[in-house]
Amino acid sequence: MNEELYSKIADALVDDGYIIIEDALDADLAKRLLYSLKNQTNFKKAGLSSSEKSHIDNTRRRDSIKWLDEDNDAQTDFLAFSNGLQEYLNRSLYLGLSYYEAHFAIYKEGDFYEKHLDSFKNSKNRVVTTVYYLNEGFEKSDGGELIIYDENDTEITRVVPKANSLVVFMSERFPHEVLPAQSLRYSIAGWFRVDKR
Ligand code: OGA
Ligand code: MN
Repeated sequence: MNEELYSKIADALVDDGYIIIEDALDADLAKRLLYSLKNQTNFKKAGLSSSEKSHIDNTRRRDSIKWLDEDNDAQTDFLAFSNGLQEYLNRSLYLGLSYYEAHFAIYKEGDFYEKHLDSFKNSKNRVVTTVYYLNEGFEKSDGGELIIYDENDTEITRVVPKANSLVVFMSERFPHEVLPAQSLRYSIAGWFRVDKR
């Protein structure tokens, strides 16, 4: 059961607003998800969110994405974990999360994502962000670190995007960026939302 993990995440969201967990899920799940990612077709150049005008701007963001769906066991297992977390956060923190959306992302060498917020105050749609990494044998020299900043734009921490590491944070509170990848970088970015699908 994931109850222990869910409560650890909920406590951290209350205390700090974010958490970084290495070896978060079943290590085999990260492997199956990577395999599933590599079998996807039709990755698309990512755009910016609607509040930033939905368009592709490769001076700010260069990854390619594909939304997760349930026609594959690995993706279904990951979404089951996320839906369990959603229920737990609603029960324990009354966040009123209504659904979860997530996409695979591929950063090729040189790809990055400039400092941004996933949600803007008053927009109230993306409430909690998750990022789950799939990169086996990734080290600092492979680049692609996630930098998390606080509300004053002071750097809090850097995350090496190693397989089976999970980052969860309050979407409105933490500006963050992805440094240029030096190797192919694979991840799943997801958001718990409060609006209608
Ligand atoms: C995003 C994002 C971070 C990462 O997709 O919005 O910030 O480490 N991703 O991939
Ligand atoms: Mn983001």
